[in-house]
Amino acid sequence: MDDPCEQSFVENQDTCEVLFAYHDRTKHHFNRQARSLGYMDWANQPNPFRYYEGARQTKLDVHRQPRPLPYHRLYEQDALPAQPLNLESLGDFFRYSLALSAWKECGSSRWALRINPSSGNLHPTEAYALLPPLSGVSDAPTLCHYVSEPHALERRASLSKEVWQHLTNLLPDGSFLLGLSSILWREAWKYGERAFRYCQHDIGHALAALRFSAVLCGWDLKLVQGWSTVDVAMLLGLDRSDECIDEEREEAELLCIVGPGLASQDELVFVPPVEGIRHQIRDAAWHGRANRLSKEHVPWPVIDEVANATAMPKDTRFADSRNDIQSPIAHAARDVDARTIISQRRSCLGLDGRSTLSLTAFLRMLWRTMPGPHAPWDAVCWRPCIHLVLFVHRVIGLQPGVYAFVRDHTKLDVLRRVMRPDFVWQSPAGVDSDCPLYLLREADCRDAARTLSCQQDIASDGFFSLGMLADFAEPIRRHGPWFYRNLFWEAGVIGQVLYLEAEAASARSTGIGCFFDDAVHDVLGLTDNQFQSLYHFTVGMPVEDRRLQTWPPYGSDA
Ligand SMILES: Cc1cc2nc3c(=O)[nH]c(=O)nc-3n(C[C@H](O)[C@H](O)[C@H](O)COP(=O)(O)O)c2cc1C
Repeated sequence: MDDPCEQSFVENQDTCEVLFAYHDRTKHHFNRQARSLGYMDWANQPNPFRYYEGARQTKLDVHRQPRPLPYHRLYEQDALPAQPLNLESLGDFFRYSLALSAWKECGSSRWALRINPSSGNLHPTEAYALLPPLSGVSDAPTLCHYVSEPHALERRASLSKEVWQHLTNLLPDGSFLLGLSSILWREAWKYGERAFRYCQHDIGHALAALRFSAVLCGWDLKLVQGWSTVDVAMLLGLDRSDECIDEEREEAELLCIVGPGLASQDELVFVPPVEGIRHQIRDAAWHGRANRLSKEHVPWPVIDEVANATAMPKDTRFADSRNDIQSPIAHAARDVDARTIISQRRSCLGLDGRSTLSLTAFLRMLWRTMPGPHAPWDAVCWRPCIHLVLFVHRVIGLQPGVYAFVRDHTKLDVLRRVMRPDFVWQSPAGVDSDCPLYLLREADCRDAARTLSCQQDIASDGFFSLGMLADFAEPIRRHGPWFYRNLFWEAGVIGQVLYLEAEAASARSTGIGCFFDDAVHDVLGLTDNQFQSLYHFTVGMPVEDRRLQTWPPYGSDA
């Protein structure tokens, strides 16, 4: 093979096959779940909090009452004037995105919940901020690790002003960099091979949570393009193998720019570090060592394989243009403060199986998942690839049945072609014809929804549940294997929007990572990996578990 372009295309194809094989082998089937330990190894349950032992800690304020904002304005551009970048605003930023939201207690068990949800409450996502010199942190540019338990920043590295200048040269004042990583072991401890998928969902939820929180600070948040996974790992210090045990290493996921006035800058120039700058970052003063999370570990080699296969190569850009929609959303009459909604978000443990949802509220939730030039969708810089397949149980004015909400109208024809030929694809009566909601089949689909979501009652006892159907093989082949992660992130962002929307409607929701993949595809008539369901979700009226006690996240008054 002489042509180097052709060679790289073929390598790309091979790597795609690695991740397609990973995706297939981590499907749950009726008679066989994806490989995991098969029991709960409580003795090795990972510590949910990562600390860098020996790193100096700066506590952030948990008592501040930042500026109010009606919930619906979270989805508006420039909803609040920009706050200056300082310890107070950083405290607000993390407080309403990744901080603790409550402590729960049941018998002798006690566990923390956070603003962002996480599969199994295992919280593999870690966050880092690269800050300019800042009063109260350091007079040098500093890489900090955020720890939610004390709501604090740990000082990981002090960098030179030259490095800071090189990296942020063309960014507006008051900007900083934010990086996310996954501790793959945290999820693998419980879920085995399927864990990599859940880590990626969690990144999507965290990305949306951070984007909403940035709105509260008057900031924008944009994904950085063109940096390789290796470079992100280097910048966040995740490749410093002697400062973390190998089994608990963090996989670099993404890098964002956070700050004021970024929305107006179409092409943010943010070049990857040149060799000299890389050396300076590696040779900087690094502080602390990652705490050990478990005594013993079980290796899951396919997770390392898929992580390698989906790493972002150098100089990669998203070539797609998004198809932003101005959605005709009617605001809810009851508009609570955004911080109240964000802080009260919880997963439902049970749903009542009888309450109903108005059609207006249902459509509002769906429209919120549409891409637009506002939070959180302005942080998702690719054309939407996820469509919703809805199992509607109790929405006033809609026949119970299976529906499709097509988030990219250019995909309508192909979806009609590949799904079951007997689906009717009708616009429901009472729904505006501009709305891409289609009835596929009238049916009482409560049993099917429960069965497909690993027999979980929450999928049948709500107003509706849904599967997030991703345009899968072709975009991954076109963009590259790394786009596998982005598909899960998009699903996680949709999930975070639905979590908040459910709270705003005085209801509750839950992400559902456990579902029988190919059984879902069979029901829809899908026979290959052109489309794949990546994530399920349910929304309904919660039934509280009265055995659980709830405590505030940071002492009595926070
Ligand atoms: C990706 C993902 C998958 C999840 N899958 C399930 C599930 O299959 N069943 C379930 O009951 N909860 C599921 N959850 C909900 C989590 O268990 C919940 O987020 C976690 O316990 C923390 O609770 P909180 O959301 O109330 O903060 C999932 C959450 C996420 C983010």
